[in-house]
Amino acid sequence: MNERQPDDIPSSQITPEHVYRSRRQLMGLGLASPLLALAGCAGPEDPPAVAVARKPDSTDGFLAGDELTTLQDATSYNNFYEFGTDKGDPARNAASLKPSPWSVVVGGEAEVTGTFAIDDFLKPHAEQDRIYRLRCVEGWSMVIPWQGVPLGEVLRRFRPNSRAKYVAFTTLADPDQMPGIRVPALEWPYREGLRLDEAMNPLSLLATGMYGKPLPNQNGAPLRLVVPWKYGFKSIKSIVRIDFTEQMPVTSWNQSQPGEYGFYSNVNPDVDHPRWSQRSERRIAGTASKLFADRIPTLPFNGYAAQVASMYQGMDLRRWF
Ligand code: MTE
Repeated sequence: MNERQPDDIPSSQITPEHVYRSRRQLMGLGLASPLLALAGCAGPEDPPAVAVARKPDSTDGFLAGDELTTLQDATSYNNFYEFGTDKGDPARNAASLKPSPWSVVVGGEAEVTGTFAIDDFLKPHAEQDRIYRLRCVEGWSMVIPWQGVPLGEVLRRFRPNSRAKYVAFTTLADPDQMPGIRVPALEWPYREGLRLDEAMNPLSLLATGMYGKPLPNQNGAPLRLVVPWKYGFKSIKSIVRIDFTEQMPVTSWNQSQPGEYGFYSNVNPDVDHPRWSQRSERRIAGTASKLFADRIPTLPFNGYAAQVASMYQGMDLRRWF
């Protein structure tokens, strides 16, 4: 494969590999993250299911009082159809995914395109910690401490041109690594898309880790999207390709059931899915006795309206669901 570096990164901005690696190792021990330091003597295997003190309504949208989902629940109750359609299938089957070596193809309406080894693709940017609520259209939600790089910072380096209006994302589709691909549950590869301004919004995250460790395979190793104001299915996993496009890209769930899943898929309690109300949700909150916590109201844009609602001003959100 012909791998190259984005040619617009001054070498002074490229983090030396050993610094980057040692930071990741520290994060693996839960030491590089102020959030995880709060875990006290609990190891990263066993993060506390407690509310973490953080400024309410901070730029990452964290709400005071949110309780973290446990790592155990976040890694055993998954949607990743490439490994099967049951919630437990990804944890059972995803060991066959090889997240390293990994490269990402960047194509379409941009000045810099090509195939990039993942470290070259991400390296100049510092990983950040973000606690995000993620709500699934099925009516459950989680609160996850992610590590990753703001998507917009990464995309800007490829210098999208004036025709670029959308960004399309594609997951790996390798039947040797992904047994679910042999079943036509969706049209493979899994695809998702964002409007360019959504992709550039500071909340959009390219996640590389969770709970201070590299992403587990079942959560989309080594690179996934997290778009916290949209339903969970927009957060595409194990990304191998990113294209800047002029036209709205095809997305897997919209292609499979256009009446149920729109392109935008912003969390919206006022627009029900044909099979599930979107008025309320139940957190997978790490309560020892039961998987789901009590029902709570779902907030517009999943509680991130202050950060994102202005992007949709003047749009009829019933039509553009
Ligand atoms: N990405 C791929 N490639 N394949 C999938 O089946 N499922 C989506 C999304 N990303 C999916 C995917 C759905 S429906 C949800 S709710 C989230 O991943 C779940 O992410 P989690 O398992 O980390 O909670």
